[in-house]
Amino acid sequence: MTEAIVYEKIGDIAVLAANNPPVNALGQAVRQGLVEGIERAEKEGAKAVLIYGEGRTFFAGADIREFGKAPTEPFLPDVCTRIEASPLIVVSALHGTALGGGLEIALGSHYRIAVPKARMGLPEVLIGVMPGAGGTQRLPRLIGIDKSLDVITSGRQIGAKEALELGILDKVAEGEPREIGLAYAQELIDAAAPRRAISEMPAPEPVDFDALYDAVLKKGRGLLAPAVAVRGIQACCELPFAEGMKRERELFMELMATDQRQGLIHAFFAERAVGKLPELKDVEPRQLAAIGVIGGGTMGAGIATSALLSGLTVTLIEMSPEAAEAAKGRISGNLQGALKRGKISPEKFAELTEKALTLATDYAALKDADLVIEAVFEEMSVKKDVFTKLDAICKPGAVLASNTSYLDVNEIAACTSRPEDVIGLHFFSPAHVMKLLEIVVADKTAADVVATGFALGGKMGKVSVRAGVCDGFIGNRILSKYRTCADYMILDGASPYQIDAALEAFGFAMGPYAVGDLAGLDIGWAVRKRKRAEGMDPRARDFTYADKLCEDGHFGQKTGMGYYDYSAGAKARVPNPEVMPLIEADRAAQGITPREFTDEEIVRRYMAAMVNEAARVVGEGIAKRPLDVDVTLLYGYGFPRYRGGPMKWADMQGLPGLLADIKSWAQDDPYFWEPAPLLEKLVAEGRSFDDLNKD
Ligand code: COA
Repeated sequence: MTEAIVYEKIGDIAVLAANNPPVNALGQAVRQGLVEGIERAEKEGAKAVLIYGEGRTFFAGADIREFGKAPTEPFLPDVCTRIEASPLIVVSALHGTALGGGLEIALGSHYRIAVPKARMGLPEVLIGVMPGAGGTQRLPRLIGIDKSLDVITSGRQIGAKEALELGILDKVAEGEPREIGLAYAQELIDAAAPRRAISEMPAPEPVDFDALYDAVLKKGRGLLAPAVAVRGIQACCELPFAEGMKRERELFMELMATDQRQGLIHAFFAERAVGKLPELKDVEPRQLAAIGVIGGGTMGAGIATSALLSGLTVTLIEMSPEAAEAAKGRISGNLQGALKRGKISPEKFAELTEKALTLATDYAALKDADLVIEAVFEEMSVKKDVFTKLDAICKPGAVLASNTSYLDVNEIAACTSRPEDVIGLHFFSPAHVMKLLEIVVADKTAADVVATGFALGGKMGKVSVRAGVCDGFIGNRILSKYRTCADYMILDGASPYQIDAALEAFGFAMGPYAVGDLAGLDIGWAVRKRKRAEGMDPRARDFTYADKLCEDGHFGQKTGMGYYDYSAGAKARVPNPEVMPLIEADRAAQGITPREFTDEEIVRRYMAAMVNEAARVVGEGIAKRPLDVDVTLLYGYGFPRYRGGPMKWADMQGLPGLLADIKSWAQDDPYFWEPAPLLEKLVAEGRSFDDLNKD
C-alpha cells in the first residue's frame, strides 16, 4: 500500500482516501494505491468502498507531468475497469474539481455523490488530448450522445447541480466528502442497492459522426482534440465496450503524439509559472483595498469595472462633472454585461455602482487610495502632469501606476519624489474582458510594489506578466516587428487578404489587417507619425498606403471602412476596393516588381519576425523567460493556444532552421532581418528557448 492512498475500514465500508497534494493528480502511486485498496477491501470482506480526496479536491486529473513520458502501470483505464469490476459497491464522493481522470474514476465507480460546490468535467481537450480512461465510453452510456458531446468537446467545468440534472451524479449533499460519502455508502448497503456498472449499460444509437467530426473541427479552428474525441464517442456507439476502450486508447495516444498537445500543455504550465518570480519570493504586497483610476474613457472605465468586480473600492477622476457622468455610464454598461451573464446579482450591481464607486473631479479624492492607475492620453507631458499631481496628494506608500502602452516608465517615475512607488500596469482593451496584464518594472520600482501589481492582477483574475521598460514592453514591441514584416510582404507582392487568411489558417483568431480594422487604423497611423518625427533609421523600409487609407478617413470598423468594407456588417469582411490600388501605387513608386507568396512563406516570415524580436526581448531581460513572451502573446494577441506561444512554436520548428531562414532573408534586407544574438547563441549551443525556462 502506498501512502498516496490511505486505507481504512469503518464497519462494512473500506475507505480509500487520496493523499497526493496539491490536487490529488492520478500519478503512478495513486493509481497503484487505488488498485491495492480495492483488492484489500475485497479480501477484508467489506461491503462497500468509498473513494474520496483529502485536501482541496477529489482527483483533479491524470498527472500531466507524466505526459510525454513512457506510461507506467497500472494504466488509468485499467484502474477504472478494476474499480468497476469489483463485486463491492463503490462510491465516489466528489469535492473541489473532479476533472479528467478524476471524473473517469468516478464514472468507473457504481455511485457518485458530491458536495454542492464540487465542479467536474472532462477538460482533456483543453490540453490537447481526450478522455483516455473510459470517459468517451462511459459518459455517453450514462447521459446520451448530445450531452456527453457537449461535456467532452467543450472541456467545460460543470457544477454539482447541473451534473445532477445531467445524470452524472446520483446525489448532492452538504458536508465533508468523507462524511457524505460514508453516509451514502451505508444507505446503499442498508437498501441492498445493486452494483451499477456503466459499461454494462446499453450504448446510444449511432448518429452521423462524420458530420459531427467536421462541425467540431471547424468550430475549433484547427484544434484537433475535440474532433478526435468525437471519434471516441462514435466508438462507444458502434463497438462493444472492451473494443471501444481500445479504440479510445488508440485515439488518445495519437493525440498524445501531436505538437498541439505539447503546445497546450506548455501553455498550461507557462500560465502558472508566469507569476512565480524568484525576486518576489517572500515579498509581501502592500495593502490593496481602495484604488483610484484617472480617466474614464474606454480603458479607464474597463479598469474600474475590473477593480469593482474584484471587490475593490474605486475612486475615478475625470476632468468635468459631465465627463465623470459619462464614465459612470460606461462602467454601469460594463457591469450590466456581468449582470446579464449572471456573474453578479442585481443587489451586487447596485452596491458596486452606488457604494463601491465614487466619481470626482478633484485629485484630492485620491488621498486615501492604496493604488492609483492613470489611463489618460498617451503623451509624456500629460502623464508627467498627472504624476506630479499624484505625488503631491497620494498618501506615503501608495502605489502610483501608469497604464501606458509604450512610454518610458523610468521617465514618468523620475518626475515624482518617490520613483520606488511607480510602476507600469499595462491593461489590454477592453480591460474588464482581456486577461493579460503587463506589469512593467522600472529601474527603481520597489519589490513590494511589483508584488502589489501581481496581487492586483490576481484579484482581477488576470494573467500577469512581468516586463521591463522599453518601447512597447513585451507585447507591443514584438507586435510592431511582426506587423512590419506583414507590411513588407504587402510591398513585395502579398495582399492584406492573403496574409489575414494565411494567419487565420495558422490559428490566429484574426489576421493582422482585420485586427487593425477592429482596433482602429488611426492608432498605427499615430505611431508611424511619431516614429517618423523621431527620425527613422534610413535603412528601414517605409510605405504610404496605410497612411493614405487614414487620410481618406478610413479608420477601420468604426468608420465602416478600412482594409475591409463593413457596410454589410462587421463580420462581412469584403475587401475595400480602394486598398489594392494604393498598395500598387506604393510598389510602383519604389520600383518593386510584385512577386507571389505562398501561405506557408507568409506564416514562416511572420513567425520568424515575431520569434527574432522575442529573442531580443528575452536577451535584453525585458522578458525574464521565454515563457513570459509565450503567455503575453497567448493572452493579449490572439496567438493560437494549441501552438503554445511563439517561443514554444520556434522550439518545435527547430531553432537552427529558423535562424538559417532569417539569415537568408537578411541578404535582401539586412537591417530588418538581423538575427537576435540570443537566437544565434542558442543555436550555437544546441539549446532551446524552453531550456531557458528551466534555468
Ligand atoms: N497534473 C499535475 N499537476 C497538476 C495538475 C495535473 N493534472 N493539475 C494541477 N496541477 C498542479 C499545478 O501545476 C500547480 O502546481 P504548482 O503549484 O507547482 O504550480 C498545482 O497543481 C495547483 O494548480 P493550480 O492550477 O495553480 O490551482 P487551482 O486551484 O487554480 O486549479 C485545477 C486547480 C485542478 C482546477 C487546475 O489546476 C486544473 O485545471 N488542472 C488541470 C486539470 C486537468 O486538465 N485534468 C485533466 C488531465 S487528464
